[in-house]
Amino acid sequence: MAQPAQASHAHRSYDAPVQSGSAGDALSVVGGSRLAGEVRVTGAKNSVLKLMAAALLAEGASTITEVPDILDVAIMCELLRRLGCEVVHAGGQVVIDVPAALEHRADYDLVRRMRASICVLGPLLARCGAVDVALPGGDNIGSRGLDMHVDGLRRLGATVVSEHGYLMASSRDRLRGASIWLDFPSVGATETILMSAVTAEGATVIDNVAREPEIVDICRMLQQMGAQIDGIGTSTLTIEGVDALHPVAHAAVSDRIVAGTWAVAAAMTCGDITIRNADPAHLQIALDKLATSGADVEAVPQGIRVRMGRRPRAVDVVTLPYPGFPTDLQPQFIALNAIADGAALVTENLFEARFRFVQELARLGADVRTDGHHALVRGRNGLSGAPVEATDIRAGAGLVLAGLVADGTTVVYGMSHIDRGYAGFVPALQGLGADVTRI
Ligand code: EPU
Repeated sequence: MAQPAQASHAHRSYDAPVQSGSAGDALSVVGGSRLAGEVRVTGAKNSVLKLMAAALLAEGASTITEVPDILDVAIMCELLRRLGCEVVHAGGQVVIDVPAALEHRADYDLVRRMRASICVLGPLLARCGAVDVALPGGDNIGSRGLDMHVDGLRRLGATVVSEHGYLMASSRDRLRGASIWLDFPSVGATETILMSAVTAEGATVIDNVAREPEIVDICRMLQQMGAQIDGIGTSTLTIEGVDALHPVAHAAVSDRIVAGTWAVAAAMTCGDITIRNADPAHLQIALDKLATSGADVEAVPQGIRVRMGRRPRAVDVVTLPYPGFPTDLQPQFIALNAIADGAALVTENLFEARFRFVQELARLGADVRTDGHHALVRGRNGLSGAPVEATDIRAGAGLVLAGLVADGTTVVYGMSHIDRGYAGFVPALQGLGADVTRI
């Protein structure tokens, strides 16, 4: 059996993101290996970062476990330190000791390295009555507005302005509960409003909220901290504001996107991968698509086993907010369809620029035509290895998967993107039998 996916990167310094072209930032992938064995998935990046922000809501030491050793977590640690917290990140956990008085500014140098830094907006406003957060850059996957965050905070009584590249929110008095409808079930806006409302005066009802497992996870941690939240996992959250929250220990929900990536890897390489610490209930549509493509998908104790004995059949995909098909698995499924039997239509409804990576996939010989938010993928019998560049985390994962089945060597540049989301990716691939080397 292969080594668990976690456990690598332990000694790597994450002080600064690796720039494209620097040492270790490319991966050489020799295609043709069948991936088989076992991997273990840790907590979800997109939950852990928000759980770390939620810790700001209570004075004292909170502990988060199942934390992946990835660059984004290191950036979040740095941000929390600058806000005045003592943060220790080691051995898969983060301990955050939050002082009584916090700084309330998230600077551009951190926010531009990680868009998720804006998740401190709600907690800092709730704790300090004021917050300045640099407007984010982040992933190269579309415009990614903040209008719903801003509208929600205004409804809770905050004044919000945008000046000199910063979003500044303040409130002279305690925030006041309100009724809020989101135009779209935005993950980020749901989190910002939720984390602002838990200590507001009175009740807040947020309609059309995101229902991702990561949102449920944050609600559970806030509940443990003393927040009163009803409707968790539904489209309507009702929050009764409390005076103060207390620190807790919380284990992050497992990363369904990392698990899904391994599942696609098994299907594409005619492999057999058992993914531990993964919840099939969080991946229902994606796993169903893999079954339709011909894979044998099975729930096993604390995990999922995916086996494939044939060339995948093409499968159509439409990305939607949870429980719809996740946009964060869309590039991986385009990679699968690129070598599948037949043609598939992939529709991207969340991030307009997420098809940019198909130009890179085309360098491997993939036949993908895009028109607006649709991509028509005609499966080829094989791909041919070539140098390609990852433009974001999931595009990078999709390109590595394509390299695994391409003829000859594929060099994926921009591994720093993949390192932001996949802990110990390269050793885990090697453990499963892939012929991959950082160069
Ligand atoms: N949007 C607005 N206005 C807003 C908020 C969102 O127009 O006020 C739009 C965005 O522009 C985007 C869409 O709504 O087109 C979805 O945005 P959402 O707020 O739901 O996403 P997010 O919070 O920015 C998180 C994840 C993404 C994941 C999406 C969708 C984190 C740090 N990021 O982004 O993860 O794709 O939800 O599930 O949690 C990744 O991990 O690779 C990644 C990009």
